[in-house]
Amino acid sequence: MASSLEATTLGDAAFVIRPLPEVVFRAGAIAETPARVRQLDGRRVLVVTDPGVAAAGLSDRLTELINADGLDVSVFDGVEPNPTLANVTSGSEAAGGSDGLVIVALGGGSSMDCAKAIAMDLVNEGPIRGYCIAASLGETGTIDPATAAPQHQPTSAVPLIAIPTTSGTASETNGSGVLTDESENRKIFISNPLVRPAVSLLDAELTLGLPPYPTATCGMDALTHATEAFTSNRVTPYSDAIALQAIRLVGQWLPTAVNDGANLEARAQLLLGSHLAGVAFGIAGLGMCHALGHPLSAVLHQAHGQTLTTMLPHVMGFNMPERTSRYAAVAEALGAADASDDEATNARAAIGAVEAMAERVGIARSISEMGGSSDHLPELVHQAMSDVTMLANPRPASSDDVRALYLAAF
Ligand SMILES: NC(=O)c1ccc[n+]([C@@H]2O[C@H](COP(=O)([O-])OP(=O)(O)OC[C@H]3O[C@@H](n4cnc5c(N)ncnc54)[C@H](O)[C@@H]3O)[C@@H](O)[C@H]2O)c1
Ligand SMILES: [Fe+2]
Repeated sequence: MASSLEATTLGDAAFVIRPLPEVVFRAGAIAETPARVRQLDGRRVLVVTDPGVAAAGLSDRLTELINADGLDVSVFDGVEPNPTLANVTSGSEAAGGSDGLVIVALGGGSSMDCAKAIAMDLVNEGPIRGYCIAASLGETGTIDPATAAPQHQPTSAVPLIAIPTTSGTASETNGSGVLTDESENRKIFISNPLVRPAVSLLDAELTLGLPPYPTATCGMDALTHATEAFTSNRVTPYSDAIALQAIRLVGQWLPTAVNDGANLEARAQLLLGSHLAGVAFGIAGLGMCHALGHPLSAVLHQAHGQTLTTMLPHVMGFNMPERTSRYAAVAEALGAADASDDEATNARAAIGAVEAMAERVGIARSISEMGGSSDHLPELVHQAMSDVTMLANPRPASSDDVRALYLAAF
């Protein structure tokens, strides 16, 4: 393959890598929880999780470990998929104050994000909505930068330990959280280093029971994170290396994890791939696949990874003129490139590889198949245009562009 992936000139490059949470990657890492709580000077624990994770027996396993260590523990298992502001309030009420408290987030992105918001809510004045980012559009029809920040900044947060049980969002790597404002049916964000987990325990054994559909949607979320981080307008050579390895791992192991869920090797490789993708997008940002996916989750109540899977090939096609050489490298990482083909052909092969992966893991769906109709279009376009992940997309998009991409995905 003739690769013109630009030989990065480092002379005037500038990037800052912020400290990452301490990460423990090993089967059985959950057993470290009590010791980690004590390290954070915790005397009591609030486990934040959801009904599915609880039904899988994972929160019982965790509370037994914490009880056996003599720490006081309570469980809030009321997190909904695409967690709402009301979930945050209920979780804060369940905490019984912040004194001596450590929050342990056990679950997928929904539980981890909700836990971050609870950690913020417990020790800052006023409703959590005031600490959220909900950008609005300026006169030009694009995001008004003045609205891309929260009304209030938090001054502290309850310490947090993250234990992911899906391999997808990589919420354990960052201080960001996605919430749903149920009054507007819209996704809004928190983002602050104060709620970045102090420790992340990556224990692939906890993901063995994740059913095929969420395994597939979460894996495609991870693939989208890595692809968007590798092609955003904020790429760095540092995040490039991490993103490419994440693409390789997810590409190689996702089908096995979906088809043979008990395969610990596949589960571990996927968990690591998801985590690395999160590290990469924490540095380089995401892009408009997330901006177009979030409204589909909010309006049509679909799994995050499902909406991304539907939109990713279309968004890659749109960004293609700006990122041809990088998509060719994505194809190579997915094993879909042919050395005898030119760069443009290989770049298009990356789109084909993403579509083939969606088919292979059984989640190739159109927006119509998710229950969307043309009635939803104006709301979807408006929400996508005001989603802050739009800001890192490599090619600026107008509302007409966004409408066309949605229509193509119908
Ligand atoms: N903070 C971030 O950086 C970030 C990044 C991407 C997405 N998100 C957000 O994360 C949310 C989605 O998270 P998700 O995709 O991990 O899904 P999720 O947390 O909603 O979980 C999906 C389903 O899987 C079940 N489940 C989880 N682990 C299980 C296990 N081990 N065994 C059996 N069942 C299990 C849950 O009960 C739930 O029903 C969305 O709100 C999305 O916007 C956040
Ligand atoms: Fe995501």
